[in-house]
Amino acid sequence: MRTRALLPLAALSLFLPPLAAESPEPAPIERARFAAAELTTELGARLKRELEAGGPVAAARVCSGVAQLMAAAHSRDGVTVRRVSERFRNPADLPDAWESARLAELRAALERGELPDELAETVIEEGTPVLRYLKPIRVGELCLSCHGDPESFPEELRRFLAERYGADRAVGYRVGDLRGAVSVTVRPTPAGGSAP
Ligand code: HEC
Repeated sequence: MRTRALLPLAALSLFLPPLAAESPEPAPIERARFAAAELTTELGARLKRELEAGGPVAAARVCSGVAQLMAAAHSRDGVTVRRVSERFRNPADLPDAWESARLAELRAALERGELPDELAETVIEEGTPVLRYLKPIRVGELCLSCHGDPESFPEELRRFLAERYGADRAVGYRVGDLRGAVSVTVRPTPAGGSAP
């Protein structure tokens, strides 16, 4: 029944003028979700692989080398994706004003037991609508070997983190804590399209 009711609409769309019939551009929210999922999956897989192959010290070295590159590689066609945290390890992950405010809201929501799965808002930047999107990242068991109690870290890992990041704030987490978020910004591309 439902499908039949939709048919006339689908048929109609075939005769719409070219502007509306252009290749269907995914909505900004879909592009944001896709970029966040891609980065999360790729980083997670790499992390697991390196942990299994060489343990936390080797994995930390690799992650520290590739995390920013991966984020940059997934940022294209008006989409910027990166990880942010109130207690960042890499200063490149310092949240901007919008991200800071939303991370604080997410932390409060988690404390109330109401952490949303995602958060999105359209803001106006220089007259242009820009989608800001956050996907919360929580701490799991696997994360503790590099974000848990530093006392439990091998000496070599402590040394590496201190040398590479100085006063590391991204430690002392417990399972379930909010670690930060994947942050995506979607800006309209000049041509109005996103096809590579
Ligand atoms: C093998 C060590 C290691 C493990 C395990 C690990 N991380 Fe990290 N994490 C790092 C390093 C190193 C960085 C800094 C990367 C950089 O320089 O961009 C980092 C950065 C981050 C950041 C970006 C914010 C910041 O502090 O700069 C987030 C978010 C994050 N990790 C979440 C997690 C989560 C969630 C897990 C568990 C699924 C996890 N990490 C497991 C080593 C690790």
